Amino acid sequence: MSDFKRYTVTTALPYANGPVHIGHLAGVYVPADIYVRFLRKTGYDVLFIGGSDEHGVPITLKARQRGVSPQDVVDEYHGIIRDSFIDFGISFDIYSRTSLPLHHETAAAFFKKLHASGKLVEKETEQYYDEEAKQYLADRYITGTCPHCGYEKAYGDQCEKCGTSLSPMELIDPKSTLSGAAPIKKKTSHWYLPLDEYEPWLRQWILEGHKEWKSNVYGQCKSWIDQGLHPRAVTRDLNWGVKVPLPDSEDKVLYVWFDAPIGYISAARDWAQQTGKDWEPYWKDKESRLIHFIGKDNIVFHCIIFPAMLKAEGDYILPDNVPANEFLNLEGDKISTSRNWAVWLHEYLQEFPDQQDVLRYVLTANAPETKDNDFTWKDFQARNNNELVAILGNFIHRTLVLTHKYFEGVVPESTAADEKDEIYKSLAELKEKMEYSLHHFRFREALATYMDMARVGNKYLTDKEPWKLFKDNPEAVQGILHNALQIAAKLAVWGEVFLPFFSEKLSKMLNMEPVEWNAALNDILQPGHKIEPAEIIFNKIEDSAIEVQLAKLEKSKEENAAAEQTFEPIKDEITFDQFSALDLRVGQILEAEKVAKTKKLMKLLVDMGFEKRTIVSGVAEFFTPEDLIGKKVTVVANLGKRMLKGIESNGMILFAENPDGTLKLLAAADEAVNGGKVC
Ligand code: 2FM
Ligand code: ZN
Repeated sequence: MSDFKRYTVTTALPYANGPVHIGHLAGVYVPADIYVRFLRKTGYDVLFIGGSDEHGVPITLKARQRGVSPQDVVDEYHGIIRDSFIDFGISFDIYSRTSLPLHHETAAAFFKKLHASGKLVEKETEQYYDEEAKQYLADRYITGTCPHCGYEKAYGDQCEKCGTSLSPMELIDPKSTLSGAAPIKKKTSHWYLPLDEYEPWLRQWILEGHKEWKSNVYGQCKSWIDQGLHPRAVTRDLNWGVKVPLPDSEDKVLYVWFDAPIGYISAARDWAQQTGKDWEPYWKDKESRLIHFIGKDNIVFHCIIFPAMLKAEGDYILPDNVPANEFLNLEGDKISTSRNWAVWLHEYLQEFPDQQDVLRYVLTANAPETKDNDFTWKDFQARNNNELVAILGNFIHRTLVLTHKYFEGVVPESTAADEKDEIYKSLAELKEKMEYSLHHFRFREALATYMDMARVGNKYLTDKEPWKLFKDNPEAVQGILHNALQIAAKLAVWGEVFLPFFSEKLSKMLNMEPVEWNAALNDILQPGHKIEPAEIIFNKIEDSAIEVQLAKLEKSKEENAAAEQTFEPIKDEITFDQFSALDLRVGQILEAEKVAKTKKLMKLLVDMGFEKRTIVSGVAEFFTPEDLIGKKVTVVANLGKRMLKGIESNGMILFAENPDGTLKLLAAADEAVNGGKVC
């Protein structure tokens, strides 16, 4: 255990342009909450910080799409996010937001100090400017053709078709999304944090001084530093954000990634204002430890850029650890807000009322601590039914029910002290192991160890079978249930860090006073103590509940597929005479075979009623001969003959082409006569 007594624990501030989902929870909020609950329970003084990140271009885009102000957007989502975190039991001391005046003031003062002490560099560059909308264009406000794949709707920062990162100047034929006009290049001036100057210090501080950081975090930092750091612009030409506090900067704001981490400091000040306490020790006392919980996409900001900002500012402590997690996927696919491929926390809370701990459990047991992991609803159900219900819940329920059945809900005397010593010894070992894991941010391992404690209890009851003993040896049953009740009480105390709702319910059923972490090593329930009636804490999740969730995801998939279809534009208009020149007839495919040494061609014999014809079609990738033989189709009967791979093709068969380029049959009804006109 460390000697530090005070911790400042932060969680990545989620953007307030959408609700939070299981990916956020598994990566950041659940592990942070476990850690904080553990620290508090073991006597540390913790300030646990959360809040909404309410600036940035995506929020302005969403506001434009909806025809509302950015403030309207963030007000809505800040409320949803905050309420869902509270319902889910994330035990923040403060859940603040970056649109607060207090934050604007804090971030502006931070910038001002860096500026005044010469820590920022001003540089002029050329940027795209929309003359009609009279504003500089953020990368996301520019679309154009991707120079890599030719996709015509690539954004200024990324092509969503081929995934390449772009800069707006690389786009071919750029257009402003505000007015549709072609933007011009215009000079603008911005302030930069010269990260290159911090490189030697960062190398020393992280690569030498923080070898204990998780290998994924350390590895990413090393790769950034080894590639060489460059000055980073910390201001933007935008009208939503913290105004740059300098003269002649009315249309400039701090870059969202400059102000957001300062939001952690503002949140501490917000907390201090609300509680009348002092925030400064949490940010300035060298004896305080600062821990940032984040996802892997935020590593560079929290390990390199924010520390460089803090170092430049000079008054604040630096992060002690940044236990970033990898990503959680959902049913094999990347979680995506825009594709609605997610399990949203606020929806989960409605659809699985009173089952917060089930999700907390599953997300911890399957946390993406060292690699990306997958959440599946089947696994969710299995972990609930086979672990929470069958092991933990089963042990607790049997213990309490038997105590009521045999001893009228009163804790019996200790008559099996040897067994008790043995149980306490193995629980003490497991506790120590669990503490080690918790201190080292290995929450999956810690939870598995906790479940091993429940297994100790479950096995004890199963081995002893007190229900078979009571008639002949009630004294033995007293000792067994006395011991089982002590285990249950310990599980309530130590389980609080992972399963706070379970722990609270169990403590109530056991009628327990709060017990300190280490004190739980001893007897907790004295003989004669009365407990409350047993209630079932974890219930089996039925297949039907899982099917509802899978159907919801299936619906998202279908909606995405429909939204992703792009249709070819309509060709130039033709006259009726031009149309009449086409002679379309019904034909029936009699024979079909793939043309040797080609991928696409198929040779077809078609009954045209008045004659049989050979037609070569480029359809072999989409149909087998069996798919086509016997089918009535539409034939362009007066198309000039062509030689294809040495075969004379006389006409063309029409097929339907889906937007994804696949061909489908365009068949005529069986009653249509071969050779009849299509008109
Ligand atoms: O990636 C994100 O969702 C950011 N909103 C995280 C910000 S963390 C901190 F710097 F505020
Ligand atoms: Zn592309």
